[in-house]
Amino acid sequence: MTYQGLLHKYGYLLDLPYYTQTVSLLEGNTPLIKADRLSRELGGGFELLIKYEGLNPTGSFKDRGMTAAVSEALGRGATTVICASTGNTAASAAAYAARAGMKSIVLIPQGKVAAGKLAGAIAYGAQVIQVDGSFDDALTMVIEITNKHPICLVNSINPHRIEGQKTAAFEICDRLDSAPDWLCLPVGNAGNITSYWAGFKQYDEMKATGLPQVLGVQAAGAAPLVAGHPVEYPETVATAIRIGKPARGEQALQAAEASNGRIIAATDEEILTMQKALAVLEGIWVEPASAAGLAGLAVEIEHGTLNVKGKRVVAICTGHGLKDPEIITHDMQKPLIVPPRLDALEEVILG
Ligand code: F0G
Repeated sequence: MTYQGLLHKYGYLLDLPYYTQTVSLLEGNTPLIKADRLSRELGGGFELLIKYEGLNPTGSFKDRGMTAAVSEALGRGATTVICASTGNTAASAAAYAARAGMKSIVLIPQGKVAAGKLAGAIAYGAQVIQVDGSFDDALTMVIEITNKHPICLVNSINPHRIEGQKTAAFEICDRLDSAPDWLCLPVGNAGNITSYWAGFKQYDEMKATGLPQVLGVQAAGAAPLVAGHPVEYPETVATAIRIGKPARGEQALQAAEASNGRIIAATDEEILTMQKALAVLEGIWVEPASAAGLAGLAVEIEHGTLNVKGKRVVAICTGHGLKDPEIITHDMQKPLIVPPRLDALEEVILG
């Protein structure tokens, strides 16, 4: 049967109100890609699978939660959605609102949103507002305004977002017939790690698929869950997870603990090294934040603090590389220019 999107496939497993009116871009159903070359690079002896969430309709995993949140909002008769965002939520909210015929307003931290995300939000017709502050400031503002006015909040504090994002865990279990031994993923506002854990638990109760150990990874300059306190001025090249006060931080810590896993930090250098390794070894180009989970895995393996031998590891790569082209192009060497002649080309290629 042709694929009809996440709510069609998994809606019966999601706690959504009866009035929900499906708004879908056929999100989800993303591939789980075997990464043997990267596994070998990390020491080998384990199975590594990449859940490539950058292949969702707007280029990130946010579409899973957004189909649920906007469908609920539309069914309830809402006409406007709003979110604070480091970029991906903004693009996703804008796209689903457009499809639902609703207005979208997105608040972003000034100058800290990657080009592909900002362009997306604008292209889908959102009202984009820059806040002279951090993501955390913007989130506080959208909570305040939605408490006062009838505008629907679609950040991941909206429980329907969590419901939608559980589907990624369902897909993994359906593909593998069980949960993996380890799940590693980036952590920002902590909605996604909360959703995965809820999804794996639900499937385990229904189908005895088991539970993964969860390795959540923050960027070292924005690692409040590792530090144990909010970070007032978070800073990282992985702008998607440049968050100092995660809304679902407590739940993230609980998920890590209950799974016998942990939340750690990876440096910007480790994140960018992993972004490159994934692209050149596997042909999978992700935005920096999306490489954080794998960067954390690499750190743990290198330090001997995580034994993956004989294990199956799933890494969640949350957003596409095209979201943030500048991270690659800003200090690249300009490609060589040759005259339009075969001998010139031979000279360059063959020396
Ligand atoms: N990876 C990417 C590419 C993201 O955009 C985000 C979050 C995360 C990981 C972390 O997920 O917040 O659920 O822990 N981006 C949000 C946004 C904050 O506004 O797009 P999380």
